[in-house]
Amino acid sequence: MPTPLVFRLGYVALNVTDPQRTAEDTCNIAGTRISGQDGGRIMLTSNRRRAEMILYPSDANNLRRVGLEAVTPDAVDEVRDRARAAGLRILSERPSLDCIDKGVTFLTSEGHAIEVHTPMPMDQPLRYHGPGVHPRFLDHVNFAAIDPVTFSKELGAATGMLLTERTSGYEIMWMRAADGRHHTLAAVKGNSGVHHISWEFENFDGLKRIADSLGIEERRVVWGPGRHGAGDNLFLYYVDSAGFLIECIAEMEVIQDLDMPTRVADPGENLSNWKVVNQWGALPSLEWIQHFSPCCGVDEHDDLLQLA
Ligand SMILES: [Fe+2]
Repeated sequence: MPTPLVFRLGYVALNVTDPQRTAEDTCNIAGTRISGQDGGRIMLTSNRRRAEMILYPSDANNLRRVGLEAVTPDAVDEVRDRARAAGLRILSERPSLDCIDKGVTFLTSEGHAIEVHTPMPMDQPLRYHGPGVHPRFLDHVNFAAIDPVTFSKELGAATGMLLTERTSGYEIMWMRAADGRHHTLAAVKGNSGVHHISWEFENFDGLKRIADSLGIEERRVVWGPGRHGAGDNLFLYYVDSAGFLIECIAEMEVIQDLDMPTRVADPGENLSNWKVVNQWGALPSLEWIQHFSPCCGVDEHDDLLQLA
């Protein structure tokens, strides 16, 4: 069994039409803080890391790129070689941000852009003032893919991430990194894009406060609170001001065994098996099931393509 070359999620980069509003919304509801701004780009963090979410000004709201922290600097080179060997396009061998020492960005065959990079500088204050609950960190991304099986094979080939669990019909694939969390990336069958992005909170109380914060603006929870079967995590979902589906979680399962056989879960027709979908029983809303945000086009990676 291969050892993952990536340790955990590094960052999520989003293209948004109104970075100031999206930053304000993420600070007010999720409880992050702004850690940097330049040229219209805004960086957000919830801990010591320089940036966990990066907002780029754009004509449309879509997923720009997802960063994964490499276990070592040499692992970045290994990922580049493995991605090439797997036939994946290398978008850039330069890091996407000045504050990252080393990075390589590749595209899945469906066009999801993933950068494997050395860790962000840990130079931000751990505690800060401001609204919201203050997450612990950005913890996972659930992509959408036309072919989740190919997505998981490509991710496994390039990064060594392990397939923790899948549904019996291969509609959802959950993959873990070296930190052992049940999933850091997942893919659900649909169009090529992203289904949701997740912040982890200290405990269930954080989720309660998220729901109350939404209520202040007469917005509502899309699904939850509940406890997923896959990952055993507490969850609650809302849609942010840029239309991205945001999950707020606590208590994600951690798996120490690198050799654990892939689990298979039967979600039932239309996610009707509540024991797998939500151990507390409430099934997802249509809004949750149908939610989708696209990936940006390759030519929109101007920060990388100009350097490559
Ligand atoms: Fe999730």
